[in-house]
Amino acid sequence: MMAKKLFIQTLGCAMNVRDSEHIIAELKDKDNYELTNEMSEADLILINTCSVREKPVHKLFSEVGAFEKAKKNDAKIGVCGCTASHLGSEIFKRAPYVDFVLGARNVSKISTAIKTPKFISTDINYDESDYAFGEFRGSPYKSHINISIGCDKKCTYCIVPHTRGDEISIPANLIVKEAQRAAQSGASEIFLLGQNVNNYGKRFSNAHEKMDFSDLLVRLSEIDGIERIRFTSPHPLHMDDKFLEIFANNPKICKSMHMPLQSGNTKVLREMKRGYTKEWFLDRAQKLRSLCPDVSISTDIIVAFPGESDEEFEDTMDVIEKVRFEQIFSFKYSPRPLTKAAEFANQVPENIASTRLTHLQNRHNEILDEIVATQNGKIHEVYFEELRANGGVAGRSFNNFLVQVQGSEELLGKTLKVRIDNPKRMVLYGKLV
Ligand code: SAH
Ligand code: SF4
Ligand code: F3S
Repeated sequence: MMAKKLFIQTLGCAMNVRDSEHIIAELKDKDNYELTNEMSEADLILINTCSVREKPVHKLFSEVGAFEKAKKNDAKIGVCGCTASHLGSEIFKRAPYVDFVLGARNVSKISTAIKTPKFISTDINYDESDYAFGEFRGSPYKSHINISIGCDKKCTYCIVPHTRGDEISIPANLIVKEAQRAAQSGASEIFLLGQNVNNYGKRFSNAHEKMDFSDLLVRLSEIDGIERIRFTSPHPLHMDDKFLEIFANNPKICKSMHMPLQSGNTKVLREMKRGYTKEWFLDRAQKLRSLCPDVSISTDIIVAFPGESDEEFEDTMDVIEKVRFEQIFSFKYSPRPLTKAAEFANQVPENIASTRLTHLQNRHNEILDEIVATQNGKIHEVYFEELRANGGVAGRSFNNFLVQVQGSEELLGKTLKVRIDNPKRMVLYGKLV
């Protein structure tokens, strides 16, 4: 029988990217679908959605509207992911042509969803932590692997615990098996995913071998054929000495750490319910830089959290000066349904939020220019994974800089030394040595 065609659009974070891979694997294995990049020729159109800020939620409705206009007559449209979890049946009301709604924690039900009229499943307590998904990977060179599902932290601004439910760890033996499979198929980099990776191992669905995140990292680094291990997101609160030391000393763990700051002010952090202080964050960042001089540190920052004063915002700027992050993802606070902070008094006016965001981004760019300038002449080990325009081939250095050289597809999948001769903010250009 001829394969049916699946078009899938993925919004949001790396966890959604992996969920989309799982959805594709299920539909290939069970329902004979193959992927297409052409929405208009698809038999099934899926959008995997994000709810973390208001903007991507709007995007969902504009996108499904466009799908409805351009799709084949009998093509089905499904809404999956975090917005499916939190809006549920309201999606049918606002977009009646949507055929099914499948929440972020119900991915394994996709095969049923496509066969059941107006199927909806948004149960955030559903446990698929030891469900065996089939094999599909967007890249042959690296493998995303979920190590936990959900998040219990309930930071007061964040909707994720309401879309992905409580945190539950995936059994270590399944993770190890997945990493071995990746290595055997030539993907020598694994990318471990969870909302709180360094809280791994606190709760499993059944009696499983207990293991914390540091032990899991060591175990994975012992697998032949795995050369690089990355992970996101760790939580600053759980960056104990054992974790930082294993991070710094294990030669397979890539030297880039995401340390989501959110705010540099201790009072704001308390109101966000982050569980750490400005001093703790600085202490961890300094310890990390001293244990691991090559590390690059990225962060997430929210400006204009409810009640944030100019002085409190200055503490965030102070942390930026002290840590000198290699990369900052910065956002204006966006009030989200179901969260505590949306109810707080003193929501900060939009114009102040914009001024703070611009100020922060400008200062970060200045710092970044200084960091980037120091890269000139440096030699990096680059794992090539992507062809770019005009004969460029790009990959990541061990500490996560994007590096590009002139070359062809024969570089793909290889790790080679590159000397940087033209460092730019977004890309370090260089030549093979
Ligand atoms: N588990 C990760 C965060 C996942 S959400 C962590 O704890 O770091 C990704 C980022 O989106 C967050 O780090 C935060 O900076 C941002 N974010 C989450 N909720 C937000 C909101 N209501 N408004 C603006 N940004 C938000
Ligand atoms: Fe959201 Fe906080 Fe959980 Fe991160 S740790 S997903 S910010 S609740
Ligand atoms: Fe990720 Fe967005 Fe959900 S950031 S966890 S897809 S709300």
